[in-house]
Amino acid sequence: MATDAQVYAGIGVIGGSGFYSFLEDVTEVSVDTPYGSPSDSLFIGEVAGRQVAFLPRHGRSHTLPPHKINYRANLWALRSVGVRQVLGPCAVGGLQAEYGPGTLLVPDQLVDRTKSRAQTFFDGEPLPDGTVPNVVHTTFADPYCPDGRRVALKAARGRGWDAVDGGTMVVIEGPRFSTRAESRWHAAAGWSVVGMTGHPEAVLARELGLCYTSMALVTDLDAGAETGEGVSHTEVLKVFGANVGRLREVLFDAVGALPETVDRDCLCTHAHDGWDLGIELP
Ligand code: ADE
Repeated sequence: MATDAQVYAGIGVIGGSGFYSFLEDVTEVSVDTPYGSPSDSLFIGEVAGRQVAFLPRHGRSHTLPPHKINYRANLWALRSVGVRQVLGPCAVGGLQAEYGPGTLLVPDQLVDRTKSRAQTFFDGEPLPDGTVPNVVHTTFADPYCPDGRRVALKAARGRGWDAVDGGTMVVIEGPRFSTRAESRWHAAAGWSVVGMTGHPEAVLARELGLCYTSMALVTDLDAGAETGEGVSHTEVLKVFGANVGRLREVLFDAVGALPETVDRDCLCTHAHDGWDLGIELP
């Protein structure tokens, strides 16, 4: 296992439930952060001439439930090896009948219904080295990278997957699935899909000036959108497993089509214009 600080990747892929490996020829890199350990090592390899760091969000053996993931360490670790653009595939439930299992949705909005997660780097607590982040209020009206979204949609469609352009992902605390009443409420609000990991991943990426694109694979219709027994984890893994091959192909194509890191000029890179962060980002 490499621990070499010189190891570099400009693009990060954070794999969700059912997505524990991405590349075959990888360098495994163990990274520590001021916020503790990430979910696993980073697995760094090359795709389409770009260096990519893969991180299994729940750990390679799915040992971390959504509310125990150290999201801050994950994003910090990725940035510390050079990552500036993150693709975040995740399993979600469909809240509207038209978003059935197998739908790929690239959301443009997010609703946070989590309860217990550290969701900022700027919480006034000193880092172990004594430096104190300033209080910072990050612009987050548009939580996802517009360039990354465009690239992800084009890559999916290029592989014949009629991906949905936009929609709102509501993120629940988990690890339980929603009750029928909660699910009907989320659907009635007009939200599109429900997941457990999209927050605080997206906002922490934004706080670090990273481009973040969510790619939500619908594995089930959530309890309020269907009349069956309710969602089961077995069903989620089965549908994810059936789609993970083409999702990997789409991700490969998307990685190759992302703007070069140095060419980024999207809103993600301007989130902190005018702010003194009080800390040096890695
Ligand atoms: N992940 C996959 N399906 C889900 C659902 N129905 N609710 C929350 N998270 C999910």
